[in-house]
Amino acid sequence: MTDVTTHEYDVVIIGAGGAGLRAAIEATRKGATVAIICKSMLGKAHTVMAEGGAAAALGNADPRDNWQTHFRDTMKGGKYLNDWRMAEIHAKESPDRIRELEQWGAIFDRTPAGLTNQRNFGGHTYPRLAHIGDATGLEMIRTLQERGIHSGMEVFMEYTVRKIFTKDGKATGCFAYNRANGTLHVFKSKTMVLATGGITRCWEVCSGSWEYTGEGHALAYWAGAEMGDMEFVQFHPTGMIWPPSVKGILVTEGVRGEGGMLTNSEGKRFMFNYVPEMYKPEFADTESEALEWVQEVIDGKLATKRRPPELLTRDVVAKAINSEIKAGRGSEHGGAYLDISWRDEEEVRKKLPGMYHQFKELAGVDITIEQMEVGPTAHYVMGGVKVDPKTQETTVLCLYAAGEAATGLHGANRLGGNSLSDLITFGKRAGEYSTRAAAEMDGWEEIPQSEIDDVVAETLAPFSREGGENPAKVVNELRKMMQEKVGIIRTKELLTEALDDLNEFAARGNTTSPGGSRIYNPGWHQALEINAMVDISRMCAMAALAREESRGGHTREDFPTPDHRNWGKINSVIMMGKKGEMVLEHRTYPSIRDDLKDLLDASDLHEEEE
Ligand code: FUM
Repeated sequence: MTDVTTHEYDVVIIGAGGAGLRAAIEATRKGATVAIICKSMLGKAHTVMAEGGAAAALGNADPRDNWQTHFRDTMKGGKYLNDWRMAEIHAKESPDRIRELEQWGAIFDRTPAGLTNQRNFGGHTYPRLAHIGDATGLEMIRTLQERGIHSGMEVFMEYTVRKIFTKDGKATGCFAYNRANGTLHVFKSKTMVLATGGITRCWEVCSGSWEYTGEGHALAYWAGAEMGDMEFVQFHPTGMIWPPSVKGILVTEGVRGEGGMLTNSEGKRFMFNYVPEMYKPEFADTESEALEWVQEVIDGKLATKRRPPELLTRDVVAKAINSEIKAGRGSEHGGAYLDISWRDEEEVRKKLPGMYHQFKELAGVDITIEQMEVGPTAHYVMGGVKVDPKTQETTVLCLYAAGEAATGLHGANRLGGNSLSDLITFGKRAGEYSTRAAAEMDGWEEIPQSEIDDVVAETLAPFSREGGENPAKVVNELRKMMQEKVGIIRTKELLTEALDDLNEFAARGNTTSPGGSRIYNPGWHQALEINAMVDISRMCAMAALAREESRGGHTREDFPTPDHRNWGKINSVIMMGKKGEMVLEHRTYPSIRDDLKDLLDASDLHEEEE
């Protein structure tokens, strides 16, 4: 019989990025015993890839900002598919979450008056991103980690969770293995928080590192949770594209927020040609108007002018770059040029130290005097586990989800900077409500030995397979396929092909042979990840095939415009059917409250089309 160690905690948190850590702090503060399980080392989370800042209507850089405007921007950026209840909570609570981080020691950049400084980002009406140079996520993680450790959470590093156990529709614990030494573990929990981040490692070019394979999303789905909006994947417009070894690494939107300009091979600032109707009144349509705005930013004045089109929402900018490349106007290595070198050298180094070093060391480019080359990179998934907007409980009782693993706040497209504030706002709520529920329980549910035996057998199965493919080969081919067929621009043909391909990947995944032993064996880890990657990719392709329109992070070449009448209020929901099949439904959120509706842009609501 294989040894399995059993642990018992009130609240088990899976994932140690911003949402998981914030949940852990809240749960320990409320007296729960807490285990936080992370796939890699503590501190290494995709949260650090939100470099440019955390969006919160503090009103420091422009006193006209308030939660109402933040709410409006978030809904508009999400093309009105957001859960408005989450957008309201987020806009109202994020300023307090930022101030709290400062009290815990986060060192934000300051205005001359000593307040937390805020910078511009796409889709935000006012400069709203509290930041620490271009390393905001990193500083947040550092702060939360320190706080969490001192508040008593127990950390299980380098553990991969393989299954969430349920009884009568209620989560009762999880099974994990230790990646370093191959030991096997059962964590019994009263409640559990899923804070596993995203799935973008399913695409070949992405900003996430190896952890980002979507197991969190898959675990929830396998446990019976409903998944929402899985067709909406955000391609950040600016990832590095050269040299090939660094392709996909993020180039923060902060570069454009500080005045970076995008040009094509003809030296033209092409974004002026791509301003959608709904944004026309807010964005500059001449270069001199755009430059005037930047000068105001440099001078530290209020942003009174129409913004440069480089600060359109990410979906718009990524598609514009894609179109320029397709039209034969791409940069030398097949992207676009991004230029901040016209700004003062010292300022560039001070505001964007990370970018300066990243380009210097990885590409041999000095961004204070040379242009960068950039292109879209899969960065974020708006879709995820469906949650109660207030408590963050999923449709599986006692299982909560927060951050990128959950869906609702961002609709069809997330605004940059809204992720970091999402993590701390809803991470706190998940920690609070999961602890309240745990406090009402007497003890832990027994987990049937047969279920433990089954997951142990499944976990060790790859070692008994001989002569199969190398798991890395299957994973790489899957990622390439997703890039080609479920990428920025989609068609019915490509999506249908992708779904067929995924059936083949599923079969291949079940026969791979990693070889070696349980002691740190990346081949074994990859062999186990494939099933999650296949199911997550299938959710995206299936929801994308059904949505016959283009909206936010979902673009169909065969349905190139939004279809407000048929799809304007429709969210996709995916769940497991009775026979284990993937089922897709379409639903709407409850109608928005009148006082909140009044805050929205009436001209965007298309009510005459309903
Ligand atoms: O561009 C960035 O710094 C990323 C921020 C985000 O995704 O929120």
